[in-house]
Amino acid sequence: MDCTNVYRRSFLVFHRLLNTYLSGKKWMVFFFVAIVKYRPDLFAIHERPRDTTVFKSNYDFVIVGGGSAGCVLANRLSENPEWQVLLLEAGGPEPTLSEIPALATALQYTWYDWKYHPEHTGDACLAYKGERCRWPRGKGLGGSSVLNAMLYIRGNRRDYDLWAAQGNPGWSYDEVLPYFLKSEDMRIRRYKDSPFHRSGGELTIEHFRYQTPIVPDLLEAAVEMGFPIRDCNGARQTGFTKSHCTLRNGVRCSAAKAFLRPARNRPNFHVSMFSHVEKIIMEKRSEGTVARGVVFNKRGVRHTVYANKEVIISAGSINTPQILMLSGIGPRGHLHSLGIKEFNDLPGVGQNLQDHVSTGGNLFLVDNPVTFVMPRLITYKAVERFIKRNSGPLCTFAGAEVMAFIDLRKSEWAMNGTEIDDDWPNIQLLIGGFGDNVDGGTLGMRANGLSFDYYSEVYEKVLYNDAFGIHTVLLRPYSRGNITLRSADPYEHPVIQHGYFTDRRDVETLIAAARFVMKYATQTAALRRHGARYNPHVYPRCGVLGVNSDAFWECVIRHYSQTIYHPTCTAKMGPLTDPMAVVDHELRVHGVEKLRVIDASIMPNIVSGNTNAPVIMIAEKGADMIKKFWSK
Ligand SMILES: Cc1cc2nc3c(=O)[nH]c(=O)nc-3n(C[C@H](O)[C@H](O)[C@H](O)COP(=O)(O)OP(=O)(O)OC[C@H]3O[C@@H](n4cnc5c(N)ncnc54)[C@H](O)[C@@H]3O)c2cc1C
Ligand SMILES: *[C@@H]1O[C@H](CO)[C@@H](O)[C@H](O)[C@H]1NC(C)=O
Repeated sequence: MDCTNVYRRSFLVFHRLLNTYLSGKKWMVFFFVAIVKYRPDLFAIHERPRDTTVFKSNYDFVIVGGGSAGCVLANRLSENPEWQVLLLEAGGPEPTLSEIPALATALQYTWYDWKYHPEHTGDACLAYKGERCRWPRGKGLGGSSVLNAMLYIRGNRRDYDLWAAQGNPGWSYDEVLPYFLKSEDMRIRRYKDSPFHRSGGELTIEHFRYQTPIVPDLLEAAVEMGFPIRDCNGARQTGFTKSHCTLRNGVRCSAAKAFLRPARNRPNFHVSMFSHVEKIIMEKRSEGTVARGVVFNKRGVRHTVYANKEVIISAGSINTPQILMLSGIGPRGHLHSLGIKEFNDLPGVGQNLQDHVSTGGNLFLVDNPVTFVMPRLITYKAVERFIKRNSGPLCTFAGAEVMAFIDLRKSEWAMNGTEIDDDWPNIQLLIGGFGDNVDGGTLGMRANGLSFDYYSEVYEKVLYNDAFGIHTVLLRPYSRGNITLRSADPYEHPVIQHGYFTDRRDVETLIAAARFVMKYATQTAALRRHGARYNPHVYPRCGVLGVNSDAFWECVIRHYSQTIYHPTCTAKMGPLTDPMAVVDHELRVHGVEKLRVIDASIMPNIVSGNTNAPVIMIAEKGADMIKKFWSK
């Protein structure tokens, strides 16, 4: 070993100790100090909404949850100066660190996260600590849009047409597109004249300002395989694209930044943080059941507020069904078993849970310095570039620089003799110059809660080796999970059954996706140029099954069962004729007056893409429905 090598090795050991064993918190303190000192603009103290401490007893609208949907609703409803609007949020203000794209995963498992753990099943998430999946959810203004990976994707035309076909008039793609456009502020120049985009809205869309050098080759490999590089939010979805992201001037554009900050000075609008809603106040009258207001707890003091017009629940797909059930709306038997007074027997509350599970951890080693090897990229210089110009390696989320939508149903169709190209991809790939090995465990391993055993078997021997990663995301799972109460205590986490792989077809689709990815990553000239090869260090329990066999892939899928953080559909929209429907096509809870649910839970079926943009669309459309209803 020569001198530079010794130096390099000791540097890596030092880096490793600092990063892995002192965990991500050290980074957070470091960046926090840097921001305090050099970037007061990121604090934006004067742009942030103030916390209300004095409440009216009555508001026109009480919105529960200040996440992606709640921020949109608060803005749109308070546009009418006649309406008094209150937004209640369990968490606090947006964390300043969330502005930095590269730190997206660092805020998981902090006080900005609800820290959910679905139940142990023994056949999924086996690579994680305690074999338990982790489901982070944002807690604070902006909700999950503060923790998310910033990817902006609308889903597929057919997703929405299917919602409409299930008895939900108004929700076809052509009818929802105007609501995507309503809030859009597209700043990627190429899309300036596209009829699928507009600029000037609240939610800014950009590309990441930094990309790892391998990105052009990731796209070239796709072209080689015959795929188009296209606007996957445009006329057709199938193909590859550089990711579109909710960013403004290179830093995160959360729903709170986009929608709450501009509304903060409206005199008819109150925001209350650290306000945990315990239940909806329900009343049985001769004409029917009515939601009258909510009870919430702010810093240990219980408050009651009433809604003259409506209570709107936007607490996200886990907390929304929880609040409904705590308030007596849900499956009768379940409510009775916990001694909760029933107001409306709706068996669909908490059911129909759908998530995008993916195969995580797929690692392809390369020979050239073209990826996000952290000790090489996250240097003093990188921090300086960020501080001075909002650019450099801190301005990417390297795990998803490129995304693809591909249709692996083709082989199914070929067997049935009905092959048609109907542009309804069933697999999404998240591709980027990032893998679990390149960060020494600082970001990925910590956030995912990967077990040390799995990490050391698979990644330790290739630590800090250049590599790119590919997540294969199951876009339309057949499996269903559910959410039930653990107890009648509003502070106890509900029971989450993720339901992953309860339908075998989901495993098969992911196996097919793994085969596709092997071809893409190792057999295209563009990536072979870099010597791309599948990480030879596989988990022994899977390796004995024979690398690249179906059994091997199933083993990997059941170990590294990575959520893409899209739990949805737990209070589905549908007509009264559907016994599992919770809200109607105007998002009003069936059988209850003055109560709507507006967030990710109302999707009847999960969309074929990331869920933040669809939730913002749902809230835009919901706000319009409310305005129309009350202006009659
Ligand atoms: C780690 C992560 C990465 C993701 N990556 C992406 C991505 O790259 N692209 C994408 O499109 N989507 C992504 N998503 C998903 C996307 O962000 C969510 O689907 C979307 O934000 C959900 O919006 P929502 O309004 O339904 O819920 P949320 O945004 O979760 O908002 C719910 C709000 O309600 C509050 N609340 C809950 N219970 C109560 C209560 N009892 N009282 C008061 N307030 C309450 C919560 O604190 C929260 O602020 C990601 C999500 C996560 C967690
Ligand atoms: C919830 O989902 C799991 C997994 O799909 C299933 O086994 C269980 O029976 C469901 N429970 C309820 C109450 O629906």
